[in-house]
Amino acid sequence: QEKKDLTGKKVLLTAGPTYERIDPVRFIGNYSTGKMGFALAEEFAARGAEVILIAGPVNLKTISAAIRRVDVVSAGEMFEQVMQFADQCDIVVSCAAVADFTPKEKSGTKIKRGKMDLNLELQPTQDIAAELGRRKKAGQLLIGFALETDDEACNAVLKLRKKNLDLIVLNSLRDKGAGFGGDTNKVTVIDRKEQQFAYDLKSKQEVATDIVDR
Ligand code: C5P
Repeated sequence: QEKKDLTGKKVLLTAGPTYERIDPVRFIGNYSTGKMGFALAEEFAARGAEVILIAGPVNLKTISAAIRRVDVVSAGEMFEQVMQFADQCDIVVSCAAVADFTPKEKSGTKIKRGKMDLNLELQPTQDIAAELGRRKKAGQLLIGFALETDDEACNAVLKLRKKNLDLIVLNSLRDKGAGFGGDTNKVTVIDRKEQQFAYDLKSKQEVATDIVDR
């Protein structure tokens, strides 16, 4: 039996990748499956919270009736939905692997194969977590993720500060069993005092419990 220690709290989560449309059949995406974010959503719900889950394109189901799910495709759509709900939430968790760039022009018809090089011009997307940091209300808790390949802790602390987060969950692609796709993760949680809490390799469900506890 889980403890219902988050009864009355409202939690907003982003999860999964975003797809940035190139033409009607192609997109720019990434390898995020949404498993970590969905595990967190279920954990928050099991602990009594009311959960709003803004999900990118994933192949996952939501189980708990306490989760209200909004499906989106692109970074722009995710931004719009998050900003609709953020100011009424006590805790906001940015777990999504949001695309950093999107095609400047989206072709209405399929781009044809040719012998010439094809150059796609990309423009930066809005940083959802950073905007949440700017809009943060007193008492609101913002949690972000950092998937790093090098200088992990240093990069994570920089992101925590830059985006005005309260906690950042770091996973390294150098750790076996951590990061995209799998059912396990190995994380270090870092707070505003730069205290680091390192956890063992665990199932994403167990990692979700550790993060919510923290
Ligand atoms: O991409 P980056 O490493 O900066 O991501 C760190 C955090 O910022 C993650 O929590 C991610 O969900 C969030 N983020 C976001 N919107 C973006 C890029 C990243 O919310 N456009």
